[in-house]
Formats: sequence, structure tokens, C-alpha cells
Amino acid sequence: MNAAVRGVVRTADALGVHTLGVEFGYRGLIKDRMRELDARAVSGIIQLGGTILGTARSEEFRTPEGRARAAANLKGRGVDGLVVIGGDGSFHGAQALSDEHGIACVGIPGTIDNDLGGSDFTLGFDTAVNVALEAIDRIRDTASSHERLFFVEVMGRRAGWLALYAGLAGGASAVLVPERPTDIEAVRERVRGSFEMGKTFCIVVVAEGDDAGGAYGIANGVVEGTSLDSRVTVLGHVQRGGPPTMRDRVLGARLGHAAVKALLEGQDQIMVGERSGQIIRTSLETAWTDNDHDAGPLLELIDLLAR
Ligand code: F6P
Repeated sequence: MNAAVRGVVRTADALGVHTLGVEFGYRGLIKDRMRELDARAVSGIIQLGGTILGTARSEEFRTPEGRARAAANLKGRGVDGLVVIGGDGSFHGAQALSDEHGIACVGIPGTIDNDLGGSDFTLGFDTAVNVALEAIDRIRDTASSHERLFFVEVMGRRAGWLALYAGLAGGASAVLVPERPTDIEAVRERVRGSFEMGKTFCIVVVAEGDDAGGAYGIANGVVEGTSLDSRVTVLGHVQRGGPPTMRDRVLGARLGHAAVKALLEGQDQIMVGERSGQIIRTSLETAWTDNDHDAGPLLELIDLLAR
């Protein structure tokens, strides 16, 4: 997100446009917590995880009263347009703010879940996948040395993209995601089959939103009545921190730049994203109406290669 903030501020600066940074998202907007951001204020942040501006979930912004307060603060400071970095909740809020108060809003897709339409990848996804992948590589050392079965839980409450990419890149024997109901018996057979084929270890990647009770629940179900030696690792918020990858920095810079250009061209209620390497504009709504990426082909490939 910091690369996107920097992209917004420096593009605006280059075009003679004044930028304010909103602290802690919509909560800060309601409390009028904004600070001047010039080109120097975003120095030395491109390599930082998290966001220098802070972020927050705001119940108050979900109410018309909360949005009215936020709009009054923006208008009071002479703000003409808002760049919103976030997921579908943030974009629903932006749409309402624009509808109700005429504040032009442009969205930048930012979530480690990669579960938005209108962009091949969302900000943070590549970094989070690489963190998960590094963890899987490290876990593999113990798994293979001890001939163990490991269940590694990654984030993703409603979408399995992190699990799919980390699992495929990490050579997992199986990946369990919210998009496909989990069949414990089938996982047990796959794991048994892997060991019977001569594998010395087995790694199963589980998305936290899987329907079978997370990695601990699945591990218990799979090993029940077997002599399998298993362990569970839950990666949690480790995946949301640390220096962003090159891909995330480049994506953030490009989308930050594109968001400012879009606002200056009078665009409203749109999202800037990247598809097949090209920067594109879609309606904000596309983020939540067209987010039905098909997990099927990746799951099939993982199944095929796990032998
Ligand atoms: O939406 C991104 C995400 O990281 C999910 O993958 C995860 O379930 C959730 O946020 C965690 O949210 P919180 O930090 O509020 O616990």
C-alpha cells in the first residue's frame, strides 16, 4: 500500500495537485484526521509493509450519518477527489460516499486475498504468497527429515487464492479452499497415497476459510485411526507484514499513478486495476460483482502434479 500512496502523492505533485493523506481510513475521515503529503513526505516508504497512513474498519462509516460527517470534512478541506485503497468493503463505502455526497472516488484494489474483480492481482497478494511460500519451504525441511505430514494454514476467509498459489509453488500434496467442499476421506487417501508412492513427507495447505474447521480440525479428521505423524502450522498475520515484493511495489506505483490520472480526467466510482500487464479502469462495482475467479484449473493442476 505504501508504494501506492507514494505513487499517488508523487504523481499528484508532478501535476501540481495538492494531496492530503487520510489517517486510519474511513474512521480518520470521520474524525477529520488528515495530513499534508508532499513528495518528501513519502520518501523511504516504498520498501515498508503495512501502511504509513494506518488503516481501520469503521462501523460508523457504514451509516449515512457517518458518511455525511466524512463528506463535510472533505469538503471543508476543499478535497475534490478521493483515492481509496482496499477491498470490497472499502469500495462499497466509496460508492456510497460518491452517490450521497458527490465526492469523486477512485479505487485501488488492495487485499492479500486477491478476491476482487477488475484486476488480475490485488496489492499485497504477491507479498503474502511469498511469505507463505518461504514458510512452506522451511516447514518442508522438518517434514522431510521426520517423514511427517504437515498442515499449513494460510489466510483467506472467503477465497483460496493465497492457498492455491502458495500450495502450487510450494509443491503441496493437496490444497483445501473455501471454493471446494473439503472431503476428509479424500484428503486421507491422497496423503496415504503420497507416502505409499515413496514420498518422505506431505504438505497440505489449508485456507483459513475452508469449510472443514481450519487446519487443526482437518488434521484431526485426516489422521484419526491412522498412524500418520502430523503437525499443524498456522501462519496468520505473519503473511500481512514485511517488505513488499517487487511485483507489489511495481503494481502499487502503477495503480497509484493511474488513480490520480483517472481523477484528473473526471472519473468517478471506478477502480484502476491491471489485466494482462495493462492498466485498466472498471466500475467500482466490478470489484464485487466479477470476483468469481475459477479456482478449478489450479486445483486440477495441483492434484495432477502431486505425485
Ligand atoms: O481480508 C484480508 C484478510 O487478511 C483475510 O485473509 C483474513 O481473514 C482477514 O483479513 C483478517 O482480518 P483481521 O486482521 O481483522 O483479523
